[in-house]
Amino acid sequence: MKEIFEDLTKKRDTLVKATFSSPREGAEFSRTVLRPVQLKSGARWQAERFAGTKVFHLNLTDEALGGWLDGEGSAYRQIALFSAGKTVTYLRRGAGWKRSEAGNALSAPAVRGNNREKEYLLKEGEAIPAFVDLGVFTADYRIKADKYDKYKQINRFLEIVDDALRGVNKKSFTLLDFGCGKSYLTFFLYHYLVKMRGMNAKIVGYDLKADVVAQCNEIAEKYGYDGLRFYVNDVTKGGLYEGEIDAVVTLHACDVATDYALAFAVERGAEYIFSVPCCQHEVNGSIRAGGDFDLLLRHGLFKERFSALLTDAVRAELLRATGYSVDVLEFVDFSHSPKNVMLRARRTRSVPLASRDFSRVEGIMEKYGFRQSLYRLLSGREGV
Ligand SMILES: C[S@@+](CC[C@H](N)C(=O)[O-])C[C@H]1O[C@@H](n2cnc3c(N)ncnc32)[C@H](O)[C@@H]1O
Repeated sequence: MKEIFEDLTKKRDTLVKATFSSPREGAEFSRTVLRPVQLKSGARWQAERFAGTKVFHLNLTDEALGGWLDGEGSAYRQIALFSAGKTVTYLRRGAGWKRSEAGNALSAPAVRGNNREKEYLLKEGEAIPAFVDLGVFTADYRIKADKYDKYKQINRFLEIVDDALRGVNKKSFTLLDFGCGKSYLTFFLYHYLVKMRGMNAKIVGYDLKADVVAQCNEIAEKYGYDGLRFYVNDVTKGGLYEGEIDAVVTLHACDVATDYALAFAVERGAEYIFSVPCCQHEVNGSIRAGGDFDLLLRHGLFKERFSALLTDAVRAELLRATGYSVDVLEFVDFSHSPKNVMLRARRTRSVPLASRDFSRVEGIMEKYGFRQSLYRLLSGREGV
């Protein structure tokens, strides 16, 4: 097992998990999943061992890992080490092992070292049972290996919100999440506002999917998250929250759902907007040749990317024209997700409809003939 021990310890920083399967007859556990984790006491290997419907956990130092591999670990006939982009498989052959390598589509795990972990607002190991029910944490509050990317993404979102709200001493805070989906972000935001900031938060999540909405409400109720509720609602059709709101968030809400969220925020005077758009189909589907940038419309790939950038640039400009100060941030690494642009906006003044200057946007729309929902919703005009 020495070769496998060396392979594991060499890969510690990039390893997503290692699986041990095909146990010898009579072995106590049918399967083990091994993950590198960072505990307060230092770097460890967490072994999740399965026996029937039960799961048993062990945390091992590097030294103890060697012993575990020679004992319990050697009862398995197949061991696979999953790192970003590569899987190394060991198959038992007599007294030795046959090693092979193959590609995979996994991305790198979040850095789980001490220094990086301190930067995360929401720390692995925090006893938050709702996140276990959501499927983000394991039963002992570790991040599930396949949720590391999401965990990292949501922590980044929280960091940006935290930056914006630093020094804000509001007692209560109302936030709407448009296209909340499984609502990891929505739950994390609730935890942040209520448990970490001590605010009396009201958070409402909207989504089209009745099953996920029901599940999210169930978890919120189970853990007494009284200010957190979810509704099945097509946000393009109205019927949304009627009270005062402080913030609107979107994380990859599809296509024009983002425009409806932004328009709602503007019309209801939300002070904060945090919006990570995705699948900007509307402009891509309606733009036509019209000027200096026609070269970018000739090839489908360029057209799609150009349309996405143009959509978000237009959204940022429209928000400015309605009284917001807007920043455009790279939300996460492009390699982590290509949908990585965040529009972060803060309301600085109120601009009535008649005084909104949309001329820069209208100039481009007129030339290139595209439709854009946020423009329509804020100006009351179909197009120009
Ligand atoms: C890519 S998922 C993102 C979910 C979640 N915000 C996240 O980042 O994990 C987009 C979600 O938006 C929802 N959605 C799309 N159009 C919508 C609409 N018009 N009204 C409400 N929800 C919508 C979808 O059902 C889906 O769950």
